[in-house]
Amino acid sequence: MWNFVVPILCVMAIASAEDPYRFFTWNVTYGDIYPLGVRQQGILINGQFPGPDIYSVTNDNIIVNVYNNLPEPFLLSWNGVQQRKNSYEDGVSGTTCPIPPGKNFTYVMQMKDQIGSFYYFPSLAFHKAAGGFGGIRILSRPRIPVPFPEPDGDYTILIGDWYKTDHKILKYVLDQGKILAFPDGILINGRGTNDTWFTVEPGKTYRLRISNVGLRNSLNFRIQGHTMKLVEVEGTHTVQTTISSLDVHVGQSYSVLVTADQPAQDYHIAVSTRFATQVLTTTAVLHYSNSRTPVSGPPPPAPTNDIQWSLNQARSIRTNLTASGPRPNPQGSYHYGQINVSRTIRLASSAGLVNGKQRYAVNGVSFIPSDTPLKLADYYNISGVFRVGSIPDSPPRGRGISLDTSVMGADYRAFVEIVFENRENIIQSWHLDGYAFFVVGMDQGSWTPASRKQYNLVDAVSRSTTQVYPKSWTAIYVALDNVGMWNLRTEYWARQYLGQQLYLRVYAPVQSLRDEYPIPKNALLCGRAKDLHS
Ligand SMILES: *[C@@H]1O[C@H](CO)[C@@H](O)[C@H](O)[C@H]1NC(C)=O
Ligand SMILES: *[C@@H]1O[C@H](CO)[C@@H](O)[C@H](O)[C@H]1NC(C)=O
Ligand SMILES: *[C@@H]1O[C@H](CO)[C@@H](O)[C@H](O)[C@H]1NC(C)=O
Ligand SMILES: *[C@@H]1O[C@H](CO)[C@@H](O)[C@H](O)[C@H]1NC(C)=O
Ligand SMILES: *[C@@H]1O[C@H](CO)[C@@H](O)[C@H](O)[C@H]1NC(C)=O
Ligand SMILES: *[C@@H]1O[C@H](CO)[C@@H](O)[C@H](O)[C@H]1NC(C)=O
Repeated sequence: MWNFVVPILCVMAIASAEDPYRFFTWNVTYGDIYPLGVRQQGILINGQFPGPDIYSVTNDNIIVNVYNNLPEPFLLSWNGVQQRKNSYEDGVSGTTCPIPPGKNFTYVMQMKDQIGSFYYFPSLAFHKAAGGFGGIRILSRPRIPVPFPEPDGDYTILIGDWYKTDHKILKYVLDQGKILAFPDGILINGRGTNDTWFTVEPGKTYRLRISNVGLRNSLNFRIQGHTMKLVEVEGTHTVQTTISSLDVHVGQSYSVLVTADQPAQDYHIAVSTRFATQVLTTTAVLHYSNSRTPVSGPPPPAPTNDIQWSLNQARSIRTNLTASGPRPNPQGSYHYGQINVSRTIRLASSAGLVNGKQRYAVNGVSFIPSDTPLKLADYYNISGVFRVGSIPDSPPRGRGISLDTSVMGADYRAFVEIVFENRENIIQSWHLDGYAFFVVGMDQGSWTPASRKQYNLVDAVSRSTTQVYPKSWTAIYVALDNVGMWNLRTEYWARQYLGQQLYLRVYAPVQSLRDEYPIPKNALLCGRAKDLHS
């Protein structure tokens, strides 16, 4: 099965040195923001909230020098950027030492063999509730065909739920072992007061790259009087289907095409919470450049809250097998459905109290960060930081929760089935760093081996974040072809903070520069690795 992969990887490795470089210098500061009309302390990047977009092309080298001018440690992570052979640059606490206050760190990463729409975000503390996020787009190289005409414009649309409460207070509440209240509103590109405008010219077609950068809520996105054509999901060109609204679960990214083919006026863009105890709605304006008529009428209603509607939409999202991806060959040339699964991992989340404090767990283990990044402990052979196998492969019988720095071992080049089993009554969203995986199945009820009969083994989408409906399951296939220490986490941020995450240590017994890059020369050292040198 790997025969055709290896030659391609060799060619890429040789080519990478000549790929273009793009340099970014980012100054991270606190500053006043007013997203819901009240003053809050926001995290700004070069004075901006949300932060600037990263524009790139497949295989570009992206060099981001981040100056941390917050009075506390800080890290950025890159949702969906695969950091091939290079988990040191992933920017989560298990891979990278925090940037101390007043210091800088230069991320050196390559958009290797990727296309699509993603985003970055601050990964430490509860910084994500203060901003510091922005869009990432990886365009196809000039000669690689894209399965739709070049759009007349290309907008990043970051949507997400938001609290008026200061992020440090939210963190304090979680540190006390309490749960957070429901968010106060929804932001569209940093504004929650119905006043973001997107200007379009009549007759033209626009690509909207929509990412849910929020903290917990699934959101529905729709535009009054317009349909949308779904074209891309986290790096996969989809079979282009026409939809009137789209569910975007927390952490997910989608591209849609919208044509300004309606009478010249202004239209509501509406975003609202899904499957939650409260319905929050925020609108933005789709403004025709020749419009003299302001928006009128109520925003378009959300679809039914029936889970089956959303499940049906999710299942209808398929890979266009004949379209090119990052390479000129069809996306369907990798026959994931014909590869034998070498291992099945079943993961179930749970909630409960530990020592009287709220925690969340995966297979009964609630993750606690170590004093030393796991990847550095691995590299320097520092024992006692983590134990491979500190989390079981399948959900235990009991409901008890224990605390540990959960690391699951996995073999390089294994082809793994992961089943996310959601026995809870809330919607979940899971993300795996370092990879894109095939979402082969999802359904309501409990997963059993017989559930495999309904897997889509032909044209499932390959992506890095998948939802799991309440009392339901989702199954993915992933080819573990990226050595490193990779965070597998819920995108429900309070749950992530309180333990619903683990690391997958994809391990090659023989260390080789072909499989993994050495520790970066500028790597920050901390914890028990503080005084070590490479
Ligand atoms: C970052 O911004 C702060 C506040 O505006 C300023 O004091 C500082 O000099 C800036 N640092 C860099 C490296 O630009
Ligand atoms: C901090 O920035 C300087 C100046 O660009 C750079 O030389 C240095 O490598 C950066 N530090 C780290 C740890 O990346
Ligand atoms: C935004 O619009 C929605 C729908 O019309 C409305 O429910 C909400 O109160 C508005 N929010 C603000 C802050 O004006
Ligand atoms: C699939 O991609 C091909 C390009 O190979 C394109 O011509 C076709 O329109 C796409 N089909 C759909 C249904 O998206
Ligand atoms: C997968 O497993 C089946 C049954 O064990 C075997 O017949 C088949 O050759 C295997 N396929 C591959 C591609 O290894
Ligand atoms: C860690 O241990 C491995 C296996 O014993 C060895 O090959 C490697 O050089 C060690 N790494 C360091 C940084 O000492």
